[in-house]
Amino acid sequence: MGKARTLMSCSACGQQVGQWVGRCPGCGAWGTVELRGPGTATVPVALQTLRHEAGGEPRASTGIPGIDRVLGGGLVPATVALLAGEPGIGKSTLLLQLVANLSAAGLPCLLASGEESRDQVALRARRLGIPGDRVAFASGRELGPLMDAARAERPFLLAVDSIQSLRDTAAGQVPGGPAQVRGCTDALVGLAKTEGIAVILAGHVTKDGDVAGPRTLEHAVDVVLTFDGEPRSGLRMLSGGKNRFGAEGEVAWFEMGSDGLHEIDPRAMLRTGEGEPGSATALPRLGRRALAVEVQALVVPTDGPARRQATGLEQGRFQLVAAVLDRAGRIPLARAELFGATSGGVRIDDPACDLALAAALASAASGVPPPSRSAFVGELGLTGRIHPGAGMGGRLAAATAAGLTTVFCAGEPGPMPDGLRAVPVGHVAEALEWAGFGAHSRAKRDRVA
Ligand code: TYD
Ligand code: MG
Repeated sequence: MGKARTLMSCSACGQQVGQWVGRCPGCGAWGTVELRGPGTATVPVALQTLRHEAGGEPRASTGIPGIDRVLGGGLVPATVALLAGEPGIGKSTLLLQLVANLSAAGLPCLLASGEESRDQVALRARRLGIPGDRVAFASGRELGPLMDAARAERPFLLAVDSIQSLRDTAAGQVPGGPAQVRGCTDALVGLAKTEGIAVILAGHVTKDGDVAGPRTLEHAVDVVLTFDGEPRSGLRMLSGGKNRFGAEGEVAWFEMGSDGLHEIDPRAMLRTGEGEPGSATALPRLGRRALAVEVQALVVPTDGPARRQATGLEQGRFQLVAAVLDRAGRIPLARAELFGATSGGVRIDDPACDLALAAALASAASGVPPPSRSAFVGELGLTGRIHPGAGMGGRLAAATAAGLTTVFCAGEPGPMPDGLRAVPVGHVAEALEWAGFGAHSRAKRDRVA
């Protein structure tokens, strides 16, 4: 008769190992390898004894309503969220504010930073008016000691700033490298699940959306939050991507002030320019909501190279709209420098904003402002034909909320809210005539106004 096999296994991922090791070779978690009974690698647990019962995971309010909404109703214990954003956007500030709020509400937190020293974090806390004794700080440079500290402290939330500055000395890889980032994330996911600690990982992304991988971590975490905006302006947008515990696509808006991030109503911030040549209102969908956003253009005749520069707008889209306007819209732009921007630096990548951009360019070129309190919705094809934008209902609601009265759009947009009327346009040349930028447009414009 063979000897009963003694097995060691990882309590985080169930990986079986022949002998005790400090770090699980399966998930990279520290100190999770334990002795198990003969032949049983994991002990089955009846579902109803799990800590977070189905139908109502306990959730903690972060003290910031917009963030609770983006999370799907607050922070769920033992879950892992990735807070992705470009350097300088405000990830560290947001983490510190979250940690301070939760700690003040009696939910202890641990803030681990590998990017800033304790003194630097203390200075930031002072600037934000957060009492220094409210925030428990740990170095976030090395994975092993950080995991030990979290197991000892058992905070409600472990905030890690950032996943790229954390390294696993045992793995002997370069900090910030994809394998290292992946390994550290897996270990922290293991920690969250075994110790019941919520974890938020700040992750830097570049303008192109990636490098050194937060994007590659999306499948490993429960929730992905994206922090966006133009670092030089104060406006910030936090949007929820993947979310295992709530609706995806919620958005919250913030303004970065001298004393941290404040939630704002974007309608107050994005008030659209009225009656200015070179400015037209778009109704982009940002996350699940639509908003009235001003698109601006500047057209400067030149004999030299015709530069095209867009801020907040996709460069390729900007060039395409300019080319279509030149050819199909008969607005000569080839010998001009063109600049495009959005109010507040909001990043728009909704093709249904093409028509507003075309209107802004045509308005800038002609010196004629768009009709008062109007918006433009539609995607431009290469021939100049205008295609309807998806989700018109939300866009029309945003137009009403912004106090607009006219929407130029492709086809009939469906039921119109009170006080708003649609001007159906099928081709960019037609839209420009109606809006008043074309050669024969005065009469038409008078009929719209
Ligand atoms: P930070 O949170 O450090 O961004 P990230 O961690 O994403 O790199 O904040 C970035 C910028 O915000 C920085 O340039 C300073 C500015 N800031 C304010 O304007 N007000 C404030 O209260 C704080 C803390 C920072
Ligand atoms: Mg930072």
